[in-house]
Amino acid sequence: MAEASTLKSGGIIILDFGSQTAQLIARRVRELGAYAPLLPFSTTRKQADAAVPGFRGVILSGGPASVYEADAPTLPDWVLEADVPVLGICYGMQLLTQALGGQVAQATHREYGMATVEITGTGNLFAGLDAAQTVWMSHGDRIERPPDGFQVLARTDNAPFAAIGQPARGWFGVQFHPEVTHTAHGPAMLRNFALNTCGAQTGWTPANLIHASIDAIREQVGTGRVLLGMSGGVDSSVAGELIHRAVGEQLVPVFVNHGMLRQGEADQVVTLGRQLGWANMVAVDTTEEFLDRLADITDPEEKRIIIGATFAEVFEREAGKQGQLDWLAQGTIYPDVIESAGTGRPGAKRIKSHHNVGGLPDHLKPRLVEPLRDLFKDEVRAVGTALGLPDEIVWRQPFPGPGLGVRCIGAITWERLETLRAADHIFTRELGEAGLLREGTAQAFAILLPVRSVGVMGDNRTYDEVIVLRAVTTSDFMTADWARLPEDLLARVSSRIVNEVPGVNRVMYDISTKPPATIEWE
Ligand code: XMP
Repeated sequence: MAEASTLKSGGIIILDFGSQTAQLIARRVRELGAYAPLLPFSTTRKQADAAVPGFRGVILSGGPASVYEADAPTLPDWVLEADVPVLGICYGMQLLTQALGGQVAQATHREYGMATVEITGTGNLFAGLDAAQTVWMSHGDRIERPPDGFQVLARTDNAPFAAIGQPARGWFGVQFHPEVTHTAHGPAMLRNFALNTCGAQTGWTPANLIHASIDAIREQVGTGRVLLGMSGGVDSSVAGELIHRAVGEQLVPVFVNHGMLRQGEADQVVTLGRQLGWANMVAVDTTEEFLDRLADITDPEEKRIIIGATFAEVFEREAGKQGQLDWLAQGTIYPDVIESAGTGRPGAKRIKSHHNVGGLPDHLKPRLVEPLRDLFKDEVRAVGTALGLPDEIVWRQPFPGPGLGVRCIGAITWERLETLRAADHIFTRELGEAGLLREGTAQAFAILLPVRSVGVMGDNRTYDEVIVLRAVTTSDFMTADWARLPEDLLARVSSRIVNEVPGVNRVMYDISTKPPATIEWE
């Protein structure tokens, strides 16, 4: 059975110098089966050893600074003293060059976007790849003179040293970004580095993660009982099943239906709990309590405050009925951990999909069980699939804590929620059937406006409600673009909504980007 330490041993350390794509480097390396945490550039050797025992290599991320600026992030000495291969990407390459006595300067043209590099030597980094490679560049500085002993491995007209290396030591630098999908053979380059050059261990698989996580949970909670706030999202479901496999009936999942869930969602959560044999699952329907408190409230922030406070109250009340509870499980995932560690990334604030457990008794707060803290979302999904959770749960899109409450613009009533639910169901069903919920959209949903508009149905004038469809693509939810959905799909959804949902006569498609709009309407 894989212990947590062996699971992480022999992986690759990624030092974060602030690039927006630093997390992607970690994800790409992990896809190869090697553990790769993203650590702040100020990490000490001791911290690096603790994070990845026997690490086999280091990757230096890109970043917004220039190495010759006074307060630019610097390369820790231990990286070059560790006697392991090092790959510097963009700013990381420039740091490596500077540290080894080469020269970096501002390029005459800022290079941004796709470029074709000519591979002039492989040094293993480009083994098996054609001489012309499409890559993604984003840099203002460039290498003027590589360090002594370095070979030129790739060039472009603007960057004569687009890749350099000292293959005997396993030290490489690339000016472009192999971690982004625009670099066509980026995964092969990272494989060449992490597996072939570094010889990273490849035990980071869903099956090993499950074993290690179950062992760790058992060790942590002992004979204690674990409270889980169940939302029906992928994180709480996967966390719940890991805990259930670890400690069985010590798990107490509590699901509060606040009446602002999507169609069929409450049943789905209860069915999931039953299918997985969660014997102590508690499901309560508190719709009336929520809707009473929300009557006539139209201000979005007021709605959020009321929903959050009511949720905390109800959750605490229901949890209180379950006797002694020793631990609180949370579906915290790795991007949340990176963010709160503040690895030096500028401006990376994200609204978290917190699941309203803020009002729990103080004695539970420090006793957290967070089985997903090392995992990216795609890894949580892979673990969920390996645990046998159904696709509808594993591939569920993020859903805000206040639920349809912030998509039912204006006053929230049961009737308006039912209208919204029916329209949302038609839209998401059609997207699902077209394969556009898993890929093609990061979040897609309907909104009900507090506006009526005139229409005509048969010979009669109507004066009915308006539904807006919102579908976005995004990788981090900080910025988003509207999804270019097929016209025939939009036409079918529109026609189905006005025909099948009573009281709706008009359907709009939201073509705003974030910023300046947000993803949600409230
Ligand atoms: P916005 O609308 O700010 O949304 O572009 C970004 C992401 O955050 C989610 N979101 C929330 N999640 N409680 C939550 O748990 C909230 O109050 C909340 N508001 C927005 C939104 O669905 C999107 O994924």
